[in-house]
Amino acid sequence: MMASKMKTSFFDLKLTVNGNEYNRRIPTHIRLLDLLRDELKLTGAKEVCGEGECGACTIVMDGKTVNSCLILAVEAHQTEITTIEGFSPENELTKLQQAFIDDHSVQCGYCIPGMIISGEQIIEDFHRPTRKQIKDGLSGNICRCTGYTKIIDAIENTGKNS
Ligand code: FES
Ligand code: FES
Repeated sequence: MMASKMKTSFFDLKLTVNGNEYNRRIPTHIRLLDLLRDELKLTGAKEVCGEGECGACTIVMDGKTVNSCLILAVEAHQTEITTIEGFSPENELTKLQQAFIDDHSVQCGYCIPGMIISGEQIIEDFHRPTRKQIKDGLSGNICRCTGYTKIIDAIENTGKNS
């Protein structure tokens, strides 16, 4: 017997990413992370676990931090997305990004885009977050290198100086 072929469905997606409007005809099965990295060439969001556990793929969708590996691209229709590339003008750093450098908070760097985005959200939510609030806010972001202390320092210091 001949195996039946699966037919790919397509969707006309419209969304705004980092202030730019995009219209793309996409296969309905691709994830938002694939759209950002493969179609739009925004490779700041990383894939590590692909299961919503590590936070390396964190982006902002309509004002909320989300794991882009868990969202279908079609679910982002008519939304506003910000990726790490959209957090600061080209060749400039946010205060928090500068603090990650000053506080020696980066080792391999793979988790850092997600850490920065979650850190910005924590500072926005709490203004001068305590270390406990920072730890709780980073509970969805895993780092295999730093031991977290210097990441927490950078977020705490940025909050204090904002
Ligand atoms: S790659 Fe999305 S949470 Fe790990
Ligand atoms: S700096 Fe390497 S995983 Fe965080």
